[in-house]
Amino acid sequence: MRAAKLKIAIQRSGRLSDSSLDLLHKCDVRFDNGLGKLKSVAHNFPLEILFIRDDDIPRYVEDAVADVGIVGENVLAEQASSLTRLEKLGFGRCRLSVAVPNAFEYTNISSLAGKRIATSYPGLLANFLRENSVDAEIHSISGSVEIAPSVGLADAVCDLVSSGNTLFSNGLSEVKVIMESEATLIARSGLNSATQAVLDSLMFRLRAVNAARENKYIMLNAPNAKLPEIQLLLPGLKSPTITPLGKSGWSSVQSVIGRSDVWKVVEKVKKVGAKGVLVVSIDQMIR
Ligand code: PRP
Ligand code: ZN
Repeated sequence: MRAAKLKIAIQRSGRLSDSSLDLLHKCDVRFDNGLGKLKSVAHNFPLEILFIRDDDIPRYVEDAVADVGIVGENVLAEQASSLTRLEKLGFGRCRLSVAVPNAFEYTNISSLAGKRIATSYPGLLANFLRENSVDAEIHSISGSVEIAPSVGLADAVCDLVSSGNTLFSNGLSEVKVIMESEATLIARSGLNSATQAVLDSLMFRLRAVNAARENKYIMLNAPNAKLPEIQLLLPGLKSPTITPLGKSGWSSVQSVIGRSDVWKVVEKVKKVGAKGVLVVSIDQMIR
């Protein structure tokens, strides 16, 4: 009998592609992803990777061509998908916003009344306009929404904004955020138990990688007299590891700290008298 393989759909090329590949690689799943490939089979994990246009990913998963997929919340919301959202992945953060040409005199959302708005998200835009009782014309287009105003196709756009570069280089300003989004792992229901077991094991790795991403490992040397103070600054998972150094009266202290606390903590321990402070990245973390 052939061993069960899990099929995962990821974006072929776009904002989520690199981070999706990176996440799988950090989970130690090895595969070739040559340009233009539609499918790849991992060498060391029972996973088949399908490279697909992001908007099509929910349908592929619903139709059981893939078992799971990595896709933006924005795409799921637009398609009113009923697929299970397994895990937010912490990358691909963006927002769906209304933007107008710099010359457009915008005061509030009622400035959009009677205007033509180009978007690839007609469903979400229609809901937003309805909720705000704004009557505008929606032009549904599938790509290059940002050029619609300059070619006279629309007065405004409703599109994804991440860095804001696309809007900026097209002379558009963001005026209203409709929704926030990030990459999410989705799954269909009714996986057989062997495939589910592969998914569980992928999820275990994925959570360990994501937890690690949020944390750093700090190592430092400190005079024993300062240990109580330093210990207060380094809570760690349980408590810091403290081991005596060769040099008498000194110890080595090691701990896990939140990534966003690193600089604050480093400054404080330094002030208290820590020496030889090292901060390193963690690959995987299992609590
Ligand atoms: C979105 C959007 C813009 C770009 C905005 O496209 O349509 O083109 O990202 O990013 P920026 O603010 O960093 O410039 P997406 O990656 O979703 O590709 P797609 O439209 O082809 O699906
Ligand atoms: Zn898309």
